[in-house]
Amino acid sequence: MKRVVIVGTQWGDEGKGKITDFLAQDADVVVRYQGGNNAGHTVVFDGKKHSLHLLPSGILNPKITNVMANGMVINPKAFIEEIAKLDNFNLKISDRAHIVLPYHLELDKAYEHFKGNEKIGTTQKGIGPAYTDKASRLGLRVSTFIHPERFRLRLSELLKVKNQELRKLGAPRLNFDELYTEYLNYAQVMAPYVSDTSVYLNQAIEENKNVLFEGAQGVLLCLDHGTYPFVTSSSPTASSVPLNTGIAPWLVDGAVGVTKAYTTRVGSGPMPSEIIGDLASHIRKVGNEFGTTTGRPRRIGWLDTVVLRHTKRISGLSYLAVTLLDVLSGIDEIKIATSYQFEGKEIDYIPAEMADFEACIPNYITMPGWNEDITQVKTFDELPEAAKNYLNKLTEIVGVPLAIFSVGPDRNQTILVHPIF
Ligand code: IMP
Repeated sequence: MKRVVIVGTQWGDEGKGKITDFLAQDADVVVRYQGGNNAGHTVVFDGKKHSLHLLPSGILNPKITNVMANGMVINPKAFIEEIAKLDNFNLKISDRAHIVLPYHLELDKAYEHFKGNEKIGTTQKGIGPAYTDKASRLGLRVSTFIHPERFRLRLSELLKVKNQELRKLGAPRLNFDELYTEYLNYAQVMAPYVSDTSVYLNQAIEENKNVLFEGAQGVLLCLDHGTYPFVTSSSPTASSVPLNTGIAPWLVDGAVGVTKAYTTRVGSGPMPSEIIGDLASHIRKVGNEFGTTTGRPRRIGWLDTVVLRHTKRISGLSYLAVTLLDVLSGIDEIKIATSYQFEGKEIDYIPAEMADFEACIPNYITMPGWNEDITQVKTFDELPEAAKNYLNKLTEIVGVPLAIFSVGPDRNQTILVHPIF
Protein backbone atom coordinates (compact mmCIF):
# COMPACT_ATOMS: atom_id res chain seq x y z
CA MET A 1 0.00 0.00 0.00
CA LYS A 2 1.15 3.58 -0.68
CA ARG A 3 -1.72 5.64 0.81
CA VAL A 4 -2.78 4.29 4.17
CA VAL A 5 -5.29 5.55 6.73
CA ILE A 6 -4.71 5.09 10.46
CA VAL A 7 -8.14 4.57 11.97
CA GLY A 8 -9.16 4.44 15.64
CA THR A 9 -11.46 1.42 15.89
CA GLN A 10 -12.99 2.21 19.32
CA TRP A 11 -13.79 5.44 21.21
CA GLY A 12 -10.40 7.09 20.61
CA ASP A 13 -7.14 6.85 22.60
CA GLU A 14 -6.22 3.56 20.88
CA GLY A 15 -2.59 4.61 20.35
CA LYS A 16 -2.95 6.01 16.83
CA GLY A 17 -0.20 8.59 17.45
CA LYS A 18 2.24 5.86 18.40
CA ILE A 19 1.35 3.68 15.36
CA THR A 20 1.47 6.70 13.02
CA ASP A 21 4.86 7.69 14.42
CA PHE A 22 6.10 4.09 13.97
CA LEU A 23 4.86 3.79 10.36
CA ALA A 24 6.02 7.32 9.62
CA GLN A 25 9.58 5.99 9.58
CA ASP A 26 8.72 4.78 6.04
CA ALA A 27 6.37 7.63 5.09
CA ASP A 28 7.03 10.80 3.11
CA VAL A 29 3.84 12.60 4.14
CA VAL A 30 1.60 12.48 7.25
CA VAL A 31 -1.84 14.10 7.03
CA ARG A 32 -4.26 14.96 9.88
CA TYR A 33 -7.70 15.01 8.27
CA GLN A 34 -10.26 15.88 10.97
CA GLY A 35 -10.78 17.12 14.52
CA GLY A 36 -8.75 19.71 16.35
CA ASN A 37 -7.02 20.00 19.70
CA ASN A 38 -9.60 17.71 21.30
CA ALA A 39 -7.22 14.92 20.24
CA GLY A 40 -4.26 13.80 22.29
CA HIS A 41 -1.60 11.80 20.53
CA THR A 42 1.26 10.61 22.67
CA VAL A 43 4.49 9.69 20.94
CA VAL A 44 7.37 8.31 23.03
CA PHE A 45 10.76 8.23 21.35
CA ASP A 46 14.06 7.43 23.12
CA GLY A 47 12.24 7.60 26.44
CA LYS A 48 11.05 11.17 25.76
CA LYS A 49 7.29 11.78 25.76
CA HIS A 50 5.74 14.14 23.22
CA SER A 51 2.06 15.07 23.57
CA LEU A 52 0.54 16.28 20.34
CA HIS A 53 -2.96 17.69 20.03
CA LEU A 54 -3.14 19.47 16.71
CA LEU A 55 0.04 18.66 14.85
CA PRO A 56 0.31 15.46 12.79
CA SER A 57 2.34 12.68 14.44
CA GLY A 58 5.09 12.87 11.79
CA ILE A 59 6.08 16.33 13.05
CA LEU A 60 9.07 15.03 15.06
CA ASN A 61 10.76 13.89 11.85
CA PRO A 62 11.92 16.87 9.72
CA LYS A 63 12.15 14.66 6.60
CA ILE A 64 8.37 14.16 6.65
CA THR A 65 5.95 16.70 5.19
CA ASN A 66 3.10 17.09 7.68
CA VAL A 67 -0.27 18.33 6.48
CA MET A 68 -3.16 19.78 8.48
CA ALA A 69 -5.92 19.22 5.96
CA ASN A 70 -9.17 21.07 5.18
CA GLY A 71 -11.24 18.77 7.44
CA MET A 72 -9.54 20.10 10.56
CA VAL A 73 -10.62 22.89 12.92
CA ILE A 74 -7.55 24.73 14.20
CA ASN A 75 -7.24 26.73 17.41
CA PRO A 76 -4.45 29.22 16.52
CA LYS A 77 -3.41 29.80 20.13
CA ALA A 78 -3.04 26.05 20.75
CA PHE A 79 -1.22 25.72 17.44
CA ILE A 80 1.37 28.32 18.39
CA GLU A 81 1.92 26.75 21.81
CA GLU A 82 2.51 23.40 20.15
CA ILE A 83 4.98 24.54 17.47
CA ALA A 84 6.90 26.57 20.08
CA LYS A 85 8.14 23.26 21.58
CA LEU A 86 9.66 22.13 18.26
CA ASP A 87 12.68 23.44 16.41
CA ASN A 88 12.91 21.65 13.08
CA PHE A 89 9.76 20.57 11.28
CA ASN A 90 8.05 20.55 7.92
CA LEU A 91 4.38 21.60 7.91
CA LYS A 92 1.62 22.65 5.52
CA ILE A 93 -1.80 23.98 6.61
CA SER A 94 -4.84 23.90 4.35
CA ASP A 95 -6.26 27.28 3.41
CA ARG A 96 -9.71 25.66 3.69
CA ALA A 97 -9.42 24.42 7.29
CA HIS A 98 -11.55 26.29 9.85
CA ILE A 99 -10.45 28.39 12.82
CA VAL A 100 -11.55 27.78 16.42
CA LEU A 101 -12.13 31.10 18.20
CA PRO A 102 -12.62 31.82 21.94
CA TYR A 103 -16.41 32.06 21.54
CA HIS A 104 -16.47 28.42 20.40
CA LEU A 105 -14.97 27.41 23.74
CA GLU A 106 -17.52 29.52 25.62
CA LEU A 107 -20.39 28.00 23.61
CA ASP A 108 -19.06 24.45 24.17
CA LYS A 109 -19.09 25.07 27.96
CA ALA A 110 -22.54 26.71 27.91
CA TYR A 111 -24.18 23.92 25.82
CA GLU A 112 -22.75 21.26 28.14
CA HIS A 113 -23.95 23.20 31.18
CA PHE A 114 -27.50 23.43 29.84
CA LYS A 115 -27.59 19.73 28.89
CA GLY A 116 -27.16 18.78 32.57
CA ASN A 117 -27.41 14.98 32.89
CA GLU A 118 -27.57 14.65 29.11
CA LYS A 119 -24.15 16.24 28.64
CA ILE A 120 -21.75 14.68 26.12
CA GLY A 121 -18.63 15.13 28.25
CA THR A 122 -16.84 17.07 25.50
CA THR A 123 -13.21 18.12 25.85
CA GLN A 124 -14.54 21.73 25.99
CA LYS A 125 -12.11 22.80 23.28
CA GLY A 126 -14.84 24.38 21.16
CA ILE A 127 -14.73 21.64 18.51
CA GLY A 128 -18.50 21.05 18.20
CA PRO A 129 -19.39 24.77 17.92
CA ALA A 130 -16.60 25.31 15.34
CA TYR A 131 -17.94 22.50 13.11
CA THR A 132 -21.49 23.79 13.67
CA ASP A 133 -20.40 27.21 12.40
CA LYS A 134 -18.71 25.60 9.40
CA ALA A 135 -21.99 23.86 8.47
CA SER A 136 -24.05 27.02 9.19
CA ARG A 137 -21.77 29.05 6.89
CA LEU A 138 -20.72 31.11 9.93
CA GLY A 139 -17.17 29.79 10.01
CA LEU A 140 -13.81 31.49 9.58
CA ARG A 141 -11.52 29.75 7.12
CA VAL A 142 -7.72 29.86 7.34
CA SER A 143 -7.51 31.71 3.99
CA THR A 144 -9.59 34.61 5.41
CA PHE A 145 -7.88 34.48 8.81
CA ILE A 146 -4.39 35.13 7.39
CA HIS A 147 -5.57 38.15 5.34
CA PRO A 148 -5.63 41.04 7.90
CA GLU A 149 -8.32 43.17 6.26
CA ARG A 150 -10.64 40.27 5.29
CA PHE A 151 -10.19 38.81 8.77
CA ARG A 152 -11.15 42.13 10.37
CA LEU A 153 -14.35 42.41 8.30
CA ARG A 154 -15.37 38.79 8.75
CA LEU A 155 -14.66 38.79 12.49
CA SER A 156 -16.72 41.95 13.04
CA GLU A 157 -19.70 40.32 11.23
CA LEU A 158 -19.33 37.00 13.05
CA LEU A 159 -18.91 38.60 16.48
CA LYS A 160 -22.22 40.45 16.11
CA VAL A 161 -24.02 37.10 15.79
CA LYS A 162 -21.91 35.24 18.32
CA ASN A 163 -22.11 37.90 21.04
CA GLN A 164 -25.90 37.71 20.82
CA GLU A 165 -25.76 33.94 21.25
CA LEU A 166 -23.36 34.27 24.20
CA ARG A 167 -25.59 36.86 25.82
CA LYS A 168 -28.67 34.62 25.53
CA LEU A 169 -26.74 31.77 27.14
CA GLY A 170 -25.45 33.98 29.96
CA ALA A 171 -21.84 33.50 28.79
CA PRO A 172 -19.27 36.35 28.71
CA ARG A 173 -19.33 38.45 25.54
CA LEU A 174 -16.09 39.17 23.64
CA ASN A 175 -14.50 42.48 22.80
CA PHE A 176 -13.79 42.89 19.08
CA ASP A 177 -10.59 44.97 19.37
CA GLU A 178 -8.96 42.72 21.93
CA LEU A 179 -9.85 39.56 20.02
CA TYR A 180 -8.74 40.97 16.65
CA THR A 181 -5.40 42.28 17.95
CA GLU A 182 -4.53 39.04 19.72
CA TYR A 183 -5.56 36.76 16.83
CA LEU A 184 -3.94 38.92 14.16
CA ASN A 185 -0.60 38.05 15.77
CA TYR A 186 -1.41 34.33 15.65
CA ALA A 187 -2.47 34.65 12.01
CA GLN A 188 0.90 36.10 11.11
CA VAL A 189 2.71 33.13 12.66
CA MET A 190 0.43 30.67 10.82
CA ALA A 191 0.51 32.40 7.42
CA PRO A 192 3.84 31.04 6.07
CA TYR A 193 2.59 27.45 6.41
CA VAL A 194 -0.70 27.98 4.54
CA SER A 195 -1.45 26.70 1.03
CA ASP A 196 -3.95 24.63 -0.97
CA THR A 197 -2.89 21.28 0.50
CA SER A 198 -5.12 19.33 -1.91
CA VAL A 199 -2.84 20.47 -4.76
CA TYR A 200 0.22 19.40 -2.78
CA LEU A 201 -1.27 16.00 -1.85
CA ASN A 202 -2.34 15.14 -5.38
CA GLN A 203 1.16 16.00 -6.57
CA ALA A 204 2.75 13.87 -3.83
CA ILE A 205 0.50 10.96 -4.84
CA GLU A 206 1.46 11.38 -8.51
CA GLU A 207 5.10 11.20 -7.43
CA ASN A 208 4.27 7.86 -5.76
CA LYS A 209 5.08 9.07 -2.24
CA ASN A 210 4.10 7.06 0.83
CA VAL A 211 1.27 8.92 2.55
CA LEU A 212 -0.23 8.25 5.98
CA PHE A 213 -3.62 9.74 6.84
CA GLU A 214 -3.92 10.07 10.59
CA GLY A 215 -7.38 10.02 12.12
CA ALA A 216 -8.09 11.60 15.49
CA GLN A 217 -10.63 10.00 17.91
CA GLY A 218 -12.22 6.68 16.85
CA VAL A 219 -15.02 5.40 14.61
CA LEU A 220 -17.41 5.05 17.58
CA LEU A 221 -17.09 8.84 17.97
CA CYS A 222 -17.99 9.45 14.29
CA LEU A 223 -20.74 12.04 13.85
CA ASP A 224 -22.63 9.73 11.45
CA HIS A 225 -21.72 6.19 12.47
CA GLY A 226 -20.73 6.58 16.11
CA THR A 227 -22.77 6.40 19.30
CA TYR A 228 -24.73 9.59 18.57
CA PRO A 229 -25.19 11.99 20.34
CA PHE A 230 -22.16 10.91 22.41
CA VAL A 231 -19.76 11.58 19.56
CA THR A 232 -17.37 14.20 18.26
CA SER A 233 -18.39 16.56 15.45
CA SER A 234 -16.40 15.10 12.58
CA SER A 235 -15.84 11.69 10.98
CA PRO A 236 -12.72 9.73 11.94
CA THR A 237 -13.42 6.99 9.35
CA ALA A 238 -11.30 6.09 6.32
CA SER A 239 -14.28 7.12 4.17
CA SER A 240 -13.95 10.72 5.32
CA VAL A 241 -10.34 11.01 4.09
CA PRO A 242 -11.04 11.98 0.45
CA LEU A 243 -13.51 14.75 1.34
CA ASN A 244 -11.44 16.04 4.21
CA THR A 245 -8.17 16.19 2.28
CA GLY A 246 -9.19 16.88 -1.31
CA ILE A 247 -8.20 13.64 -3.05
CA ALA A 248 -10.24 11.11 -5.05
CA PRO A 249 -11.71 8.20 -3.01
CA TRP A 250 -9.97 5.56 -5.13
CA LEU A 251 -6.56 6.94 -4.23
CA VAL A 252 -6.82 5.51 -0.68
CA ASP A 253 -5.26 2.02 -0.69
CA GLY A 254 -6.37 0.75 2.72
CA ALA A 255 -6.64 1.31 6.45
CA VAL A 256 -4.85 0.10 9.56
CA GLY A 257 -7.33 -0.14 12.42
CA VAL A 258 -5.70 0.62 15.74
CA THR A 259 -7.28 -1.15 18.69
CA LYS A 260 -6.37 -1.46 22.31
CA ALA A 261 -6.13 -5.03 23.62
CA TYR A 262 -9.12 -3.97 25.75
CA THR A 263 -11.56 -1.01 25.51
CA THR A 264 -11.59 2.50 26.99
CA ARG A 265 -13.94 5.43 26.72
CA VAL A 266 -13.91 8.99 28.08
CA GLY A 267 -17.05 11.05 28.32
CA SER A 268 -20.66 9.87 28.58
CA GLY A 269 -22.55 7.18 26.66
CA PRO A 270 -23.10 3.40 26.72
CA MET A 271 -20.18 0.96 26.75
CA PRO A 272 -21.55 -2.61 27.02
CA SER A 273 -18.29 -4.36 27.95
CA GLU A 274 -17.44 -1.87 30.72
CA ILE A 275 -15.68 -3.30 33.80
CA ILE A 276 -16.37 -1.71 37.18
CA GLY A 277 -14.28 -2.20 40.34
CA ASP A 278 -10.78 -3.37 41.23
CA LEU A 279 -9.89 -4.91 37.87
CA ALA A 280 -10.84 -1.67 36.08
CA SER A 281 -8.70 0.34 38.55
CA HIS A 282 -5.80 -2.06 37.99
CA ILE A 283 -5.98 -1.75 34.17
CA ARG A 284 -6.40 2.04 34.43
CA LYS A 285 -3.27 2.28 36.57
CA VAL A 286 -1.08 -0.09 34.54
CA GLY A 287 -2.28 1.34 31.21
CA ASN A 288 -2.07 4.95 32.50
CA GLU A 289 -5.62 5.41 31.26
CA PHE A 290 -6.04 9.12 31.90
CA GLY A 291 -6.92 11.57 29.09
CA THR A 292 -3.96 13.25 27.30
CA THR A 293 -6.07 16.37 26.69
CA THR A 294 -8.21 16.62 29.83
CA GLY A 295 -6.53 14.28 32.36
CA ARG A 296 -9.91 12.58 32.99
CA PRO A 297 -9.81 8.90 34.13
CA ARG A 298 -10.90 6.69 31.24
CA ARG A 299 -13.63 4.08 31.60
CA ILE A 300 -12.31 0.53 31.11
CA GLY A 301 -13.89 -2.50 29.40
CA TRP A 302 -13.08 -5.86 27.82
CA LEU A 303 -12.31 -5.95 24.12
CA ASP A 304 -15.60 -5.67 22.24
CA THR A 305 -15.50 -7.29 18.80
CA VAL A 306 -19.02 -6.10 17.89
CA VAL A 307 -17.48 -2.62 18.03
CA LEU A 308 -14.53 -3.72 15.90
CA ARG A 309 -16.74 -5.37 13.26
CA HIS A 310 -18.87 -2.19 13.18
CA THR A 311 -15.67 -0.23 12.47
CA LYS A 312 -14.65 -2.75 9.81
CA ARG A 313 -18.02 -2.32 8.04
CA ILE A 314 -18.13 1.47 8.29
CA SER A 315 -14.54 2.38 7.65
CA GLY A 316 -12.91 -0.66 6.05
CA LEU A 317 -9.89 -2.17 7.80
CA SER A 318 -7.09 -3.87 5.87
CA TYR A 319 -5.07 -4.74 8.98
CA LEU A 320 -5.24 -4.46 12.75
CA ALA A 321 -2.63 -2.87 15.02
CA VAL A 322 -3.19 -4.06 18.61
CA THR A 323 -1.74 -1.75 21.27
CA LEU A 324 -1.18 -2.04 25.04
CA LEU A 325 -1.04 -5.86 25.00
CA ASP A 326 1.43 -5.68 27.94
CA VAL A 327 -1.26 -4.10 30.15
CA LEU A 328 -3.15 -7.43 30.22
CA SER A 329 -0.13 -9.35 31.67
CA GLY A 330 -0.95 -10.80 35.09
CA ILE A 331 -4.73 -11.05 34.59
CA ASP A 332 -5.88 -14.68 35.09
CA GLU A 333 -8.74 -14.72 32.63
CA ILE A 334 -9.38 -12.31 29.78
CA LYS A 335 -12.79 -11.85 28.22
CA ILE A 336 -13.70 -10.91 24.65
CA ALA A 337 -17.23 -9.71 23.81
CA THR A 338 -18.37 -11.55 20.67
CA SER A 339 -22.03 -10.46 20.28
CA TYR A 340 -24.87 -8.82 22.29
CA GLN A 341 -28.15 -10.05 23.75
CA PHE A 342 -30.84 -7.51 22.92
CA GLU A 343 -34.61 -7.99 23.34
CA GLY A 344 -34.13 -11.75 23.70
CA LYS A 345 -32.06 -12.09 20.51
CA GLU A 346 -28.36 -12.38 19.74
CA ILE A 347 -27.26 -9.41 17.61
CA ASP A 348 -24.04 -8.37 15.86
CA TYR A 349 -24.61 -4.66 15.36
CA ILE A 350 -24.82 -1.44 17.36
CA PRO A 351 -28.39 -0.16 17.72
CA ALA A 352 -28.85 3.47 16.56
CA GLU A 353 -30.77 4.47 19.71
CA MET A 354 -28.53 4.84 22.74
CA ALA A 355 -31.26 3.56 25.09
CA ASP A 356 -31.20 0.30 23.05
CA PHE A 357 -27.40 0.18 23.03
CA GLU A 358 -27.48 0.67 26.81
CA ALA A 359 -29.75 -2.40 27.05
CA CYS A 360 -27.31 -4.67 25.15
CA ILE A 361 -25.64 -7.34 27.30
CA PRO A 362 -22.43 -8.75 25.80
CA ASN A 363 -21.87 -12.45 25.19
CA TYR A 364 -18.27 -13.24 26.11
CA ILE A 365 -15.69 -15.91 25.48
CA THR A 366 -13.01 -16.30 28.15
CA MET A 367 -9.35 -16.82 27.32
CA PRO A 368 -6.58 -17.83 29.75
CA GLY A 369 -4.25 -14.94 30.59
CA TRP A 370 -0.43 -14.90 30.99
CA ASN A 371 1.87 -13.76 33.79
CA GLU A 372 5.09 -13.08 31.92
CA ASP A 373 6.41 -9.53 31.45
CA ILE A 374 6.19 -9.10 27.65
CA THR A 375 7.53 -5.53 27.42
CA GLN A 376 10.87 -6.65 25.92
CA VAL A 377 9.41 -9.02 23.32
CA LYS A 378 10.73 -8.33 19.81
CA THR A 379 8.78 -10.87 17.69
CA PHE A 380 5.36 -12.54 17.69
CA ASP A 381 7.02 -15.93 18.36
CA GLU A 382 8.59 -14.66 21.62
CA LEU A 383 5.14 -14.01 23.12
CA PRO A 384 3.79 -16.49 25.71
CA GLU A 385 1.38 -19.03 24.15
CA ALA A 386 -1.64 -17.45 25.89
CA ALA A 387 -0.82 -13.99 24.46
CA LYS A 388 -0.39 -15.48 20.96
CA ASN A 389 -3.74 -17.26 21.34
CA TYR A 390 -5.41 -14.03 22.46
CA LEU A 391 -4.12 -12.12 19.41
CA ASN A 392 -4.99 -14.98 17.05
CA LYS A 393 -8.47 -15.30 18.49
CA LEU A 394 -9.32 -11.62 18.30
CA THR A 395 -8.10 -11.24 14.70
CA GLU A 396 -10.04 -14.39 13.76
CA ILE A 397 -13.28 -13.10 15.34
CA VAL A 398 -12.94 -9.65 13.77
CA GLY A 399 -11.88 -11.13 10.42
CA VAL A 400 -8.97 -8.73 9.86
CA PRO A 401 -5.30 -9.84 9.82
CA LEU A 402 -2.79 -8.56 12.38
CA ALA A 403 -0.03 -6.26 11.08
CA ILE A 404 1.33 -4.70 14.27
CA PHE A 405 1.21 -5.19 18.03
CA SER A 406 2.79 -3.14 20.77
CA VAL A 407 4.03 -4.04 24.25
CA GLY A 408 4.97 -0.64 25.69
CA PRO A 409 4.90 3.08 24.99
CA ASP A 410 8.29 3.44 23.23
CA ARG A 411 8.63 3.35 19.44
CA ASN A 412 10.92 0.29 19.74
CA GLN A 413 8.25 -1.64 21.68
CA THR A 414 6.17 -1.82 18.50
CA ILE A 415 6.40 -5.06 16.50
CA LEU A 416 5.66 -5.29 12.80
CA VAL A 417 4.14 -8.65 11.84
CA HIS A 418 3.17 -7.69 8.29
CA PRO A 419 4.59 -4.82 6.18
CA ILE A 420 2.24 -1.88 5.53
CA PHE A 421 4.09 0.14 2.85
P1 IMP B 1 -15.47 16.90 21.60
O1 IMP B 1 -14.75 16.24 20.46
O2 IMP B 1 -14.57 17.72 22.48
O3 IMP B 1 -16.68 17.63 21.15
O4 IMP B 1 -16.01 15.72 22.57
C1 IMP B 1 -17.03 14.82 22.15
C2 IMP B 1 -16.76 13.42 22.66
O5 IMP B 1 -15.61 12.89 22.04
C3 IMP B 1 -16.50 13.32 24.17
O6 IMP B 1 -17.00 12.10 24.66
C4 IMP B 1 -14.98 13.32 24.25
O7 IMP B 1 -14.50 12.70 25.43
C5 IMP B 1 -14.65 12.50 23.02
N1 IMP B 1 -13.32 12.77 22.49
C6 IMP B 1 -12.92 13.83 21.74
N2 IMP B 1 -11.62 13.72 21.42
C7 IMP B 1 -11.19 12.56 21.94
C8 IMP B 1 -9.92 11.87 21.91
O8 IMP B 1 -8.93 12.31 21.32
N3 IMP B 1 -9.89 10.69 22.57
C9 IMP B 1 -10.98 10.17 23.20
N4 IMP B 1 -12.17 10.76 23.26
C10 IMP B 1 -12.28 11.96 22.62
